[in-house]
Amino acid sequence: MRMIDIIEKKRDGHELTTEEIQFFVNGYTDGSIPDYQASALLMAIFFQGMNHVEQKNLTMAMVNSGDQVDLSKINGIKVDKHSTGGVGDTTTMVLGPLVASVGVPVAKMSGRGLGHTGGTIDKLESFPGFHVELTNEEFIKLVNEQKIAVVGQSGNLTPADKKLYALRDVTGTVNSIPLIASSIMSKKIAAGADCIVLDVKIGSGAFMKNVSDAKELAETMVEIGNSVGRKTMAVISDMDQPLGFAIGNALEIKEAIETLKGNGPKDLTELCLTLGSQMVYLAKKASSLEEARQILNESISSGKALEKMKIFIASQGGDATCVDHPERLAQAKYIIDLPAKESGWIKELTADKIGVAAMLLGAGRETKESEIDLAVGIVLRKKVGDKVEKDEPILTIYSNKENIDAVRELLYENIRISQEEVSPPPLIHEIIK
Ligand code: URA
Ligand code: CA
Repeated sequence: MRMIDIIEKKRDGHELTTEEIQFFVNGYTDGSIPDYQASALLMAIFFQGMNHVEQKNLTMAMVNSGDQVDLSKINGIKVDKHSTGGVGDTTTMVLGPLVASVGVPVAKMSGRGLGHTGGTIDKLESFPGFHVELTNEEFIKLVNEQKIAVVGQSGNLTPADKKLYALRDVTGTVNSIPLIASSIMSKKIAAGADCIVLDVKIGSGAFMKNVSDAKELAETMVEIGNSVGRKTMAVISDMDQPLGFAIGNALEIKEAIETLKGNGPKDLTELCLTLGSQMVYLAKKASSLEEARQILNESISSGKALEKMKIFIASQGGDATCVDHPERLAQAKYIIDLPAKESGWIKELTADKIGVAAMLLGAGRETKESEIDLAVGIVLRKKVGDKVEKDEPILTIYSNKENIDAVRELLYENIRISQEEVSPPPLIHEIIK
């Protein structure tokens, strides 16, 4: 088989066979196919697309390029959740304890990563002492006994995706639905869960900028998952403005605690109940999405969900007293309100740029070597559609640096106030089963 023939075949709009896709993925992973030929094929896929069978084959070739996590020693149906990114997305911190509290096993392998805030592990490390260095046996024991544990990434999962994603990043081929879908699904499938719930974001803070593209991406991923025996569902949700109020590590932990108590922001609570219902339903702990939602609501109002958060944090060495005393979490030195320059209705809070402002404060990593400041970030006081008076705070900045002029300027550039009434945008656009 020759790579040049595969490139020309896709360039001319034909379907690639299973063997051709495997030849490409294996050859690129082991270095026998050079970057320039892989780039040419990625660009051909970008323009010509891929059908369902090709997408499934590409996904599975990437899954088979490395290790797969074996969760078979964990009792029950394992459900994983994945969000396609966003700003201030506190859902994982809420959903883990919430669904575990109703008996759904949460066996989460997580990372740190780059971005506006840290990854799930960084956020959880806001609890002093919390650690994710568990042996495989400890991890399985914790999930079997109390239904939830988070462990750091280990093993060599989807090396083909790592190499291809890096190449796409520098060849203008990231924004292709078949390539995004197979990249995300290969990682989720290799991570070992039986069922997958996807939160596909749209808006300024997301890959997909409109509903029809997001819908196509979601449908593609659901199709790939179901075609390889992993029951998959998806939600399309708004990421034009940040989710909830808090953007920052300890600040989001506080927000997650409030949400588990039933006092969280409306949008964050609603999204967690929607995604959580799908997880509970797929894990067969409820016979309908409505029943699943009711079970989750009861767990919040009875305090069971919050109790599960404490058990989870304590079992991985964290100081669980912070759940009742969030003032014991890292605190920023300077707390500064950002006042509205005029009265009106909030029209825009551009999610990605507000995320960058949080990163500039130190909440996230610009490079792998950057240190995260757990205490800092932004808490919105207003959301799109809210009325604001001149000089009233739109948001509060939590900083350990005294000079925040650049952050303040960036925030003002990305907040728009309208003189006409603005209606709040829809949170959930579509549910794909
Ligand atoms: N996230 C991924 O993991 N892969 C993509 O291709 C895009 C977003
Ligand atoms: Ca948030």
